[in-house]
Amino acid sequence: MARTSRLPGFYKISVDERRALVSDTTGTGPDEVANALEQGGLDAETADKFVENVIGTYSLPYGVALNVRVNNHDYVVPMVVEEPSVVAAASNAAKMVREGGGFVAEMDAPLMVAQVQLTHVTDREEAIERIVEAKKALLEIADQAVPGLVERGGGARDIEARLLGTDEDAMIVVHVLVDCRDAMGANLVNGVAERIAPRLAHLTGGRIGLRILSNLCDRRCVRVRCHVPAAALATDDMDGEAVIDGIVNASRFAELDPYRAATHNKGIMNGVDSVVIATGNDWRAVEAGAHAFAARSGRYAPLAIWRRAPGGGLSGQIELPMALGTVGGTLRVHPAARLSLRLLGVSNAQELAAIAASVGLASNLAAIRALATDGIQRGHMALHARSVAVAAGAVGTEVERVAAAIVEARDITLDAATRVLTVLRTPRSSDRAVASWESAEET
Ligand code: MEV
Repeated sequence: MARTSRLPGFYKISVDERRALVSDTTGTGPDEVANALEQGGLDAETADKFVENVIGTYSLPYGVALNVRVNNHDYVVPMVVEEPSVVAAASNAAKMVREGGGFVAEMDAPLMVAQVQLTHVTDREEAIERIVEAKKALLEIADQAVPGLVERGGGARDIEARLLGTDEDAMIVVHVLVDCRDAMGANLVNGVAERIAPRLAHLTGGRIGLRILSNLCDRRCVRVRCHVPAAALATDDMDGEAVIDGIVNASRFAELDPYRAATHNKGIMNGVDSVVIATGNDWRAVEAGAHAFAARSGRYAPLAIWRRAPGGGLSGQIELPMALGTVGGTLRVHPAARLSLRLLGVSNAQELAAIAASVGLASNLAAIRALATDGIQRGHMALHARSVAVAAGAVGTEVERVAAAIVEARDITLDAATRVLTVLRTPRSSDRAVASWESAEET
């Protein structure tokens, strides 16, 4: 049976019931799901092997985005994030996009850049010529640094050299483009840079400077587009056409103003980072790449833009670098990261990149649709109220009931939640005290 990510009413059931449903839908054993997610998936002893000076671990909520359809495949998408409403909003927007056929993604080859800085280069033009002439031999040296990768079909693909600054700086940089296949590639690429640097210094008469990957991996981009029918965007108070106008307006705002573009992109990274973290990838690398890419024209710009589609409806597109791995790296031994890859059922890193970017586009759509209609606070507050209810000590079904009551009272504070909880736990008064939970988003 084809996997579906459409699970209506998922938000209403208990955590255990959700685990069972996800296990069923994705064909992942129920024990595998439960074991990987207990204690945040990582015990202190294992954590001690990851980093230094460990004294414990730190858990974050692990949710799943639903309704996500990319290149005609359905995915139940793990998201690790502390911010209320991010998961619900991505699921909601993915549902709208689904009505237009889902996300369509295309991915570049997984090419990363190894940078070797050379200083004290007296004749820089000549140095670059020598590098170009020696390209074949240099690529062979680079491949020697990564024999396992070469065996898996990856390896060094090209060499480029550039002048930096003026003749006075006497500096050039050499890029080795490495196909990292399904690895994120940082270690591989750093190894290549270190292996090839002495030959480059010899060829150019320069001195070796830094040898490290570039996180501006603009050769490893993913592009996703989607189309949303107008009717899918309508709210209680606005029809779909008016919402499209609002979303296009929001997109133009981000295109014209870097202050807005930063926030627009933050909304995108809400979705992207959550998937990147859930799958055990390096979110700082993805963040660095995304923002450097956003500023590539010299002016910081939005990573995603939205337009009225010529035949009706809304069309959106996103492009950003996405250096993700599905093999290698310390985090592959993290049980919850392994579980995430199992739940997704991805076969390679490019497929994972397409999903992460699609969730980013969904998060952006959800945010700017909310901003262009009701404003962000209403939805945020409804979900924030749940955290406040939990903080007040609500458990099980009390959480939703307390949250609903404090939202209705427009008093989302710990004090209010504590008061409602006290009343709720007082026999016979509970029915009067708590309004029904109407505002949770259908995911
Ligand atoms: C909040 O985490 C993200 C938003 O600010 C994004 C946006 O403004 O587009 C809502």
